[in-house]
Amino acid sequence: MKIGLLTSGGDCPGLNAVIRGAVLNGVKTYDDEFVGFRDGWRGLVEDDIMDLPRTKVRGLARTGGTILGTSRTNPYDGPHGGPENISIVLEKNQIDAVVAIGGEGTLAGARRLADAGLPVVGVPKTIDNDLNGTDYTFGFDTAVQIATDAMDRLRTTGESHHRCMVAEVMGRHVGWIALHSGMAAGAHAVLIPEQQVPMTQVAEWAKEVHDRGRSPLVVVAEGFIPEGFDEVMHDKGVEKDGRPRLGGIGEYVTREIEKLTGIETRNTTLGHIQRGGSPTSFDRVLATRFGMNVVDLVHDKEWGKMVALHGTDVVRVGFHEALDSGLKEVPQDRWEEAKTLFGR
Ligand code: F6P
Repeated sequence: MKIGLLTSGGDCPGLNAVIRGAVLNGVKTYDDEFVGFRDGWRGLVEDDIMDLPRTKVRGLARTGGTILGTSRTNPYDGPHGGPENISIVLEKNQIDAVVAIGGEGTLAGARRLADAGLPVVGVPKTIDNDLNGTDYTFGFDTAVQIATDAMDRLRTTGESHHRCMVAEVMGRHVGWIALHSGMAAGAHAVLIPEQQVPMTQVAEWAKEVHDRGRSPLVVVAEGFIPEGFDEVMHDKGVEKDGRPRLGGIGEYVTREIEKLTGIETRNTTLGHIQRGGSPTSFDRVLATRFGMNVVDLVHDKEWGKMVALHGTDVVRVGFHEALDSGLKEVPQDRWEEAKTLFGR
């Protein structure tokens, strides 16, 4: 078969490992040929394609980013978007299947195309770990590790100066990165989009910690909304698709803690550092397995499905099943569990 791969949406450590896993399994097991669409759906709708021979994927598992490039282009946008034109591109290049590697937006586009009868399957990807249908997505473990390392560093400088340190991490709709990195680093408060907490409570947690001689560490996900506010705080404008460009809540939380407690407080926003660089070994293994397994899915012609991790098994899940129930939020019991560690 001739299989086309694309990586779409925000990049994520492990994308290259998926590409390598797919090419190696396809070439070795099925004698497949591979091509890559440049910059996500854009490459497919605009017929911008590169060859992906086995030599191109050498040593890729340990590299960050994506050799295919990525964008947030929607496959239905623009003069060439939509299933009819995409079918023409596939036929012209004699491509038998499309593997879309991406997060919720990408997989929603893939679902629409598969529903329209196109041979499309998916691989779930997001550092936020917010996709239902899979226990974990690759990239999440790397982001948590990067954030944890950063917080370990914040703690030593915080302790030296007897300051409160605030770390803002990614997490637009869900707080998985904040919860896991915060717990790993021994944070004294973790603020996530799923839970509205009043700033007076955050200040109280910080004060309790300071009063017992420690330097408080507060972790805040970029999508956290303090109690009393209606929507997420952002002052960096919006993207072309109307999505607010997040980042800034850490500064607000910092100012409020300092105002309410008198403790000198500093903010650090980790931003895209969490998405860059080499994947952890966990993410390399998960991404490689996803890549290998999605090629088997293609050969079984199970269009409209994606690979997913259930426990330690890689399984197949329909796009509808994975997407229809919304995003995977941090459940109440995980929040309550973490809360025991906050404050005093
Ligand atoms: O991939 C998801 C995500 O990391 C969000 O947590 C974050 O809000 C967003 O990407 C940032 O996207 P961009 O790279 O377009 O600024």
